[in-house]
Amino acid sequence: MDKVEQIINWYVLSGVETFSSDEPVNILAVEKLPVEKGNPTPRPATSILAQSASEAFLNAKDICSKAQSLEQLRDMMEKFDGCSLKFSANSTVFGCGNHKAELMIVGEAPGADEDRLGKPFVGRSGKLLDKMLEAIGIERDKCFVSNILPWRPPGNRTPTDGEIAVCLPFLQKQIELVNPKIILMLGASAANALLNNSESISHLRGRTLQYDVDENHKYQALATFHPAYLLRSAGQKAKAWSDFLRLKEKLEKL
Ligand code: URA
Repeated sequence: MDKVEQIINWYVLSGVETFSSDEPVNILAVEKLPVEKGNPTPRPATSILAQSASEAFLNAKDICSKAQSLEQLRDMMEKFDGCSLKFSANSTVFGCGNHKAELMIVGEAPGADEDRLGKPFVGRSGKLLDKMLEAIGIERDKCFVSNILPWRPPGNRTPTDGEIAVCLPFLQKQIELVNPKIILMLGASAANALLNNSESISHLRGRTLQYDVDENHKYQALATFHPAYLLRSAGQKAKAWSDFLRLKEKLEKL
């Protein structure tokens, strides 16, 4: 194996799958680099910009308390530097869909396709989600779809508790602004982050849950398997189907 091959292998093992620009950028000397028009902004060293998790969380809460609309919140989130995942991601993937949706769907984090296209659930998991919604007569465009994290964790690794905590205020504010009747949580990460517990998805699914952002914002919630898990474990599709039928029944009763 030659040296270049060894370096590439090392990158792949570290979870690096894409290049953010054609030329290498010395992130430690970023202030001294001229930024040419049309070129992507060089990414700053995360250790320089990333604040401590608690400082970043308070900053996120403060920012979110000021957002009056989803557009404003999106803008604020794009400018927020408190989560280091932002610097390895290509896009900030904000929630997408009907701003007055009765059904809000929450996943874990953008994958490679979502990171490339800047929209949630547009890859293989998204296609399966669309089919499941279609099967119960729900158009994806009528829902609002978002994630716990707006930035893709490198190599799709599991998000850390700190990353989830820092990003959660942005999701909570999206929920508050959309004000859905029901929240569907896809997978344990989404359900555990919102419900602040560590119960397995097998235990959470099939039950009517409640998610309280605060005293004034309480939402009916359901949990089911993440579509990415269903793609790997087709045997669980029957249970997911019964969760979707339950969701349909609840929506019809609204
Ligand atoms: N998986 C998620 O949890 N969210 C996405 O947006 C895509 C895949």
